[in-house]
Amino acid sequence: MKTFDIAIDGPSGAGKSTVARLLAEKLGILYLDTGALYRAVGLKAMRCGWSENDEEVAKQLKSTDISVKTVGGEQRVYLDGEDVSRAIRENRVSDYGSRFSALPSVRAVLLGVQRRIAAERSTVLDGRDIGTCVLPDAEYKFYLTASVETRAKRRYDELTARGEDVSFERVKADIEERDERDMTRAIAPLKKAEDAIEINSDDMTAEQVAERMLGYIVK
Ligand code: DC
Repeated sequence: MKTFDIAIDGPSGAGKSTVARLLAEKLGILYLDTGALYRAVGLKAMRCGWSENDEEVAKQLKSTDISVKTVGGEQRVYLDGEDVSRAIRENRVSDYGSRFSALPSVRAVLLGVQRRIAAERSTVLDGRDIGTCVLPDAEYKFYLTASVETRAKRRYDELTARGEDVSFERVKADIEERDERDMTRAIAPLKKAEDAIEINSDDMTAEQVAERMLGYIVK
């Protein structure tokens, strides 16, 4: 039975996905990583050489199928039937995801996907515009931040653990560029919802952040 939704927004590397997964586990509700949907569009754009032309992309999206499935507690993402859960995590896909996420056609299609999923069950969603746009009536809203150094370090550790050959400086510069783009785009930019609780995760573990959030959630 659906009872409530939790929105967690914030910039890259603030720890949203780890915390959201933990919360979903503790509360026994669904977790939806919405960035993965934008990354799937970015991956298709990269593979097919799309240009950032909204009309063209709108046409291409008509024959693009993006879906998610939770398998063994993990979210899997499918692009035209192919499991792309790993491919979308590559560093170069981050840039495509961010660039194409600024297009109205992409946002409109994915807005529907996110709302349909959240309509069925209590869900914790993490993203950039969940509390402001996707689910403005979500029962609980959090805005998770951290300094750019902390966020770049987390992202660098994640990428190198996966075997990607990247430099810390490159990762930090990419994060700064994406922050700027995500915060200044015309539609649904990243910003704190007025009624969201802001938490800075610089000196906190994901477990501590999840516990802090749980403190606000009345079950
Ligand atoms: O959270 P992430 O890094 O996986 O997200 C990838 C990109 O998708 C990010 O740069 C901005 C975009 N995004 C968005 O615009 N709205 C969301 N709700 C989630 C992600």
